[in-house]
Amino acid sequence: MKTNYKRNLVTCALPYANGPIHIGHLAGVYVPADIYVRYLRMRGRETLFVCGSDEHGVPITIKARQEGCSPQDIVDKYHDIIKKSFADFGIKFDIYSRTSSKIHHKTASEFFRKLYDEGKFVVRESEQYYDEEAKCFLADRYIVGTCSKCGAEGAYGDQCEKCGSTLSPDELINPQSAISGSQPVKKMTKHWYLPLDQYEPWLKEWILEGHKEWKSNVYGQCKSWLDGGLQPRAVSRDLDWGVPVPVEGVEGKVLYVWFDAPIGYISNTKELLPDEWEKWWKSDQTRLVHFIGKDNIVFHCIVFPSMLKAYGDGYILPDNVPANEFLNLEGDKISTSQNWAVWLHEYLVEFPGQQDVLRYALCANAPETKDNDFTWKEFQTRNNSELVAIFGNFVNRAVVLTHKYFKGEVPANAKPEQVDEETLSQIPEIRKAIEDNIENFKFREALKEAMNLARLGNKYLADTEPWKVAKSDLDRTASILNVSLQICANLAIAFAPFLPFSVEKLNHILNVAALDSALTWDDLGSSDLFPAGHKLNKAELLFAKIEDAQVEAQIAKLNATKIANEIATAEQSDQEDPAIAPAKAECTFDDFQAMDIRTATVLEAERVPKTDKLLKLTIDTGLDKRTIVSGIAEYYTPEEMVGKQICILANLQPRKIRGIESQGMILMAQQEDGKMRIISPEEKLINGACIG
Ligand code: 2FM
Ligand code: ZN
Repeated sequence: MKTNYKRNLVTCALPYANGPIHIGHLAGVYVPADIYVRYLRMRGRETLFVCGSDEHGVPITIKARQEGCSPQDIVDKYHDIIKKSFADFGIKFDIYSRTSSKIHHKTASEFFRKLYDEGKFVVRESEQYYDEEAKCFLADRYIVGTCSKCGAEGAYGDQCEKCGSTLSPDELINPQSAISGSQPVKKMTKHWYLPLDQYEPWLKEWILEGHKEWKSNVYGQCKSWLDGGLQPRAVSRDLDWGVPVPVEGVEGKVLYVWFDAPIGYISNTKELLPDEWEKWWKSDQTRLVHFIGKDNIVFHCIVFPSMLKAYGDGYILPDNVPANEFLNLEGDKISTSQNWAVWLHEYLVEFPGQQDVLRYALCANAPETKDNDFTWKEFQTRNNSELVAIFGNFVNRAVVLTHKYFKGEVPANAKPEQVDEETLSQIPEIRKAIEDNIENFKFREALKEAMNLARLGNKYLADTEPWKVAKSDLDRTASILNVSLQICANLAIAFAPFLPFSVEKLNHILNVAALDSALTWDDLGSSDLFPAGHKLNKAELLFAKIEDAQVEAQIAKLNATKIANEIATAEQSDQEDPAIAPAKAECTFDDFQAMDIRTATVLEAERVPKTDKLLKLTIDTGLDKRTIVSGIAEYYTPEEMVGKQICILANLQPRKIRGIESQGMILMAQQEDGKMRIISPEEKLINGACIG
């Protein structure tokens, strides 16, 4: 393992430009990469940070078809959203470009052509589904039919979303083209394949022998691919969106998106540094590191390196590929199509100026070794109990006390004691722990260490109590605050890779700009960063408390998504069989008995503000008066509901919907037109009458 590199080339997976960035992307790839790059730069190591949008591939063409626009319109829209949200979030790429750029098309095209000319591909003909009406071959996603595994309608040629099985188009019963609806036919087509099998012995040597230091999830996945035996992989597709296959006489074929996308790392570097890009890509003095999510491991560890190896010409290979696992959201898999996500561009609007809170929460809970879950409650706790209560509180106390007793000037260390020395001597150890962890891509641990430095400061203040000492011994108070402020300066260094916005604020409070030289990583551990007399700016709070209402609003937003998805699913299954929903699985008498179904009367009804579907009802259940939030606003007006007798499930666990606690559920039935109707007793009954 080579260690003495001159420079670092850090890349992040190019996100698909068919949707915005969400917290899963951030936690898995972009936050750790940005921390790493900021750290390398602070250590004075020459570093280039490259990313851009991945603008090809079938999902983009599908999205365009759904939205009735061109694929270019789709990628233009999302490229702009993604690029801006990264910049606003402080992910500081040197370049964020795109694979629809001219320079990328040229670079990818030339790359393919060289391999083609040198006979590095094998050509294969195979039968693929063809739509005779639309006159095109169908990508797997464009073929729909009945899943042969579970019988669900609407399964795709590559996957059934109902049962989750991976499928091939041949495993669909009654396949149909998603473009024209016609029955596709099989037709011969020719494609180019990269014979990965030929690279297998070399890959085994390079990865399994040469990179035992890779993260165990990455190494393990590579090993299982290599042990399973590699097959040639098609690098072209029958599609009209992408980089055209640069072979005379070939039409309607493009490079497979996973062939062109990683070349995007190279073309984006070229775009930024037209005269110098080779220094970054073709020098054994460059250390290449790819930050990716676990679903990208095979492409970055096996396919792209094989492409580079096949190309030769001095291209370097990745030295490390720190891939993370996945982040879930409130217990469910993040899904762009289901809108089950916290979207970065929305977060930036809803939590203005609080980029670092999300950076902190995502890093502290990063899915480094296993899938993790993001919850809004934990987000709030991380902020209120750690950033505010530990880091912010310590800095604030140190600065406020300095203003109170020493007019905001760093006092001289007039009366040192042993506890000072003991405290300060821990900082170099913390520095070492942060460094070791970051160098090994253990960002959660590194962040924990930085927070330990703030904990150390808090403990020091609690032990030394300068506010009490000040009553009798100002010299000793001066020492305590001097030490505290040295810790503040160290915090400004230690947190800089993680929380750039807050550190900028902290540097302002500490008036770092007035020092003779800026604070650098090498200063971390020093207890002599502020000279006596250095003037601080006035105290400001570094972090603000996140209130319950903010978090509840986010949870309500997710609940509304859940309801919308449930309605959409119900509508879809209605379309499948408009009259009658399929029978449910058997339940026991006890299951039924457990449900407290009763009559009740609606006393008041009002729309839930800013929603189309929700009514807030106050009802008399005979037992009590309570609130139920129900998705019936599409079918009943508030006026229609008041006075109606209804049936409710009274013992359903309460849950918050749009910040309102809903205590039960109204029984409704769906009609063949999809509309929901409430179930009312035929004659007026007492409220609270049990139904069963
Ligand atoms: O998984 C993804 O989001 C892909 N767009 C990543 C591509 S990474 C690289 F190869 F460009
Ligand atoms: Zn299925």
